[in-house]
Amino acid sequence: MNQIKSYIAEHKERFLTELIDILKIPSISADKAYKKDVLKTADTIKYSLEKVGCDTVEICKTDGYPIVYAQKIIDKNLPTILVYGHYDVQPPDPINLWDSPPFEPVIKKTDKHPDGAIFARGACDDKGQMYMHVKAMEFMTATNQLPCNVKFMIEGEEEVGSANLATFVKNNTEKLKNDVILISDTGMIANNVPSITTGLRGLSYVEVEVTGPNRDLHSGLYGGAVANPINILTKMIASLHDENNHITIPGFYDNVEELSQQERAEMAKAPFNLDAYKKALDINAVYGETGYTTNERNSIRPTLDVNGIWGGYTGEGAKTVIASKAYAKISMRLVPNQDWQNITKLFKTHFENIAPQGVTVKVTPHHGGQGYVTPIDSVGYKAASKAYQDTFGKTPIPQRSGGSIPIVALFEQELKSKTILMGFGLDSDAIHSPNEHFGVWNYLKGIETIPLFYKYFTELSR
Ligand code: BES
Ligand code: MN
Ligand code: MN
Repeated sequence: MNQIKSYIAEHKERFLTELIDILKIPSISADKAYKKDVLKTADTIKYSLEKVGCDTVEICKTDGYPIVYAQKIIDKNLPTILVYGHYDVQPPDPINLWDSPPFEPVIKKTDKHPDGAIFARGACDDKGQMYMHVKAMEFMTATNQLPCNVKFMIEGEEEVGSANLATFVKNNTEKLKNDVILISDTGMIANNVPSITTGLRGLSYVEVEVTGPNRDLHSGLYGGAVANPINILTKMIASLHDENNHITIPGFYDNVEELSQQERAEMAKAPFNLDAYKKALDINAVYGETGYTTNERNSIRPTLDVNGIWGGYTGEGAKTVIASKAYAKISMRLVPNQDWQNITKLFKTHFENIAPQGVTVKVTPHHGGQGYVTPIDSVGYKAASKAYQDTFGKTPIPQRSGGSIPIVALFEQELKSKTILMGFGLDSDAIHSPNEHFGVWNYLKGIETIPLFYKYFTELSR
């Protein structure tokens, strides 16, 4: 057994207990009621980085939740890897759909994870994946084989848009200077099909409000004579897609990068089983834009989805009412070259234009970010590929993801370095959903693979 494998075998139980302790803290950045817990998590991460041998470890205050920063500089002439991750998590709602409480981690076996998986909010996104880097660092310092310099930047606001991190990055470009950025906050195809994420989608998130009459009305006395905001809102939303499931907002596709037939053929080589996909979701058919495959629809094509819609009476029984207002939250996933601020503007103009007389419409933009693609011929990608080759025994497949980490595009813009996305989660790990989990095998495989990335990145940078 090689050294990293035996180190993991020896310390496995402790690696799990330490992660479980972090998962017990409900660091929900979206809900102010958990402020103390979010701050406590930052302290815990700071302590863990001190313990694994970082020289400088600090809690950097922002206008929101702090950023944990740490570094170990062994030689100015060696390359520097900047590790990014997040210690905040999504709210656990709907809580009644969890089989075990979200902040009381348990290890259970699943079909995909015969060695067991840790069930808890944040297990995969991103505490488990972020902590792999802390434990990989422990291995490298404990055995005296850290081959290069390392910086850690772990934030607490990723799940709410990273607004303060953007400012921090812009103000600290010298401190954050690096040769490559390494992130484990994505997934891979399967445990026996390793892949490296080469793209992320951008995002524009908006909230809309449709107002009709100045108060809720009796639906008998007024029904049929005034615009019902819920009827109107749903009609407006339905019109945002045509019969081919193309988005109808004028200009929406203007800058969309079309992949060549060759690139699409390359993508289609990744193993994908449509029946298994449908079965896993209990759906009898997939649904989406005409002319594209499922894997294309969820990675290289932009989308528009309602994330929530409400208004009127939703309590028990029936209440006859025409609501004064109706609301929806809408996300648009974007592909490289679509500018999120421009898309937000196009949406706003279009949505206001299609509102019929009798209602007023308000569009409030939330957060957003640009998409990202990374080349597969960079030193970073090659180093990652070699690392996976060693630990999985297979060359990883490059694959674009449908998810978003909006800050990655900003990293490249401000820090002028490429990001390598070494994700070890599976799509079935239920991130953002009830019963989120992270495979124990995946956690340990990540810890095993990361030090090899350091090694190969240092070697290939010479
Ligand atoms: N880690 C995810 C993004 C992700 C997951 C990318 C899996 C690729 C594969 C991240 O924490 C996340 O949830 N991002 C949000 C956007 C953010 C602005 C709230 C998303 O994609 O919805
Ligand atoms: Mn994440
Ligand atoms: Mn997330």
